[in-house]
Amino acid sequence: MKSTLHASIISNNQMAKDIFCLKLYEPETVKASQPGQFINIKCSLDENGVDPYLRRPISIADIDKKSGTMDIIYQVRGRGTKVLSERKSEETINFMGPLGNSFDTQAAPEHAIIVGGGIGVFPLLYLAKELKTKKKTILLGFRNKDAVVLENEFCSVADNLIIYTDDGSYGEKGLVTTAFAPFGELAVPESEKDGTAFFTCGPEMMMKRLVHISDEIGITGQLSIERRMACGIGACLVCVCKLKDSDDAEGFKYSHACKDGPIFWKEDLFFD
Ligand SMILES: Cc1cc2nc3c(=O)[nH]c(=O)nc-3n(C[C@H](O)[C@H](O)[C@H](O)COP(=O)(O)OP(=O)(O)OC[C@H]3O[C@@H](n4cnc5c(N)ncnc54)[C@H](O)[C@@H]3O)c2cc1C
Ligand code: FES
Repeated sequence: MKSTLHASIISNNQMAKDIFCLKLYEPETVKASQPGQFINIKCSLDENGVDPYLRRPISIADIDKKSGTMDIIYQVRGRGTKVLSERKSEETINFMGPLGNSFDTQAAPEHAIIVGGGIGVFPLLYLAKELKTKKKTILLGFRNKDAVVLENEFCSVADNLIIYTDDGSYGEKGLVTTAFAPFGELAVPESEKDGTAFFTCGPEMMMKRLVHISDEIGITGQLSIERRMACGIGACLVCVCKLKDSDDAEGFKYSHACKDGPIFWKEDLFFD
């Protein structure tokens, strides 16, 4: 059973409109963490407060083992993240973690294609830094120019970084899935398919489309799925997702995104 931990807030800086980076000092969690894991944060201003009552899951976006710090990058969406954005440096924050499983970083020895959309971009930075793949192609999609963050950080670890915006106000115009299309510029030659895999996090529609295209290309991949969560440790069933199960008459079984995920191989996920 995971216990609650406390971290000191080093900083909580705004990076873009409604996007904040919370830097936390908690060396033991930093040491134990893997790319793709998340922490479940008590956002309330007062540590014993109940506004909001439930913790909020946010991915670990980056770590620095030397300084014992981790970065949590989040978009203000509702009450929880709004209150979180008001937390100040030198305060203490209560959280559980690191939680969930992690990306299999051995999955793509030759070529990793990392695809992120919206808030799904944040956890992919830690992954991109840890992957030891020969080649890294990184495709990131944002709403518009004002929402673009982490470009330099991704650029420093990518062989090829392409940024897409929905309205074309920055980078390429269109959906991030475009470059991934079978006949697009990143089509994977037959000889490279075994050593190539995609890694993705973002809106469900985007990830479904990626799975479809990757089936056509013939490469495997891992997805970080987002579900609403409460306990974050497999106790409340809020985060249910479906996995393929050939023994079941309906072809699927239920699983916990928080405990068994949030990362799944595309071959295991059952999309409705
Ligand atoms: C494993 C995991 C990792 C996550 N990592 C990040 C991250 O790195 N950065 C980040 O900004 N956000 C991340 N999220 C989403 C984040 O947890 C939600 O945005 C947050 O809980 C919203 O809380 P709130 O109180 O501000 O908003 P609420 O008032 O609870 O909800 C406001 C809006 O946000 C939507 N929302 C709520 N929960 C989720 C969710 N789990 N996924 C998608 N949309 C949601 C609601 O549908 C609603 O439209 C992650 C979620 C999960 C499950
Ligand atoms: S959030 Fe409670 S079981 Fe997953």
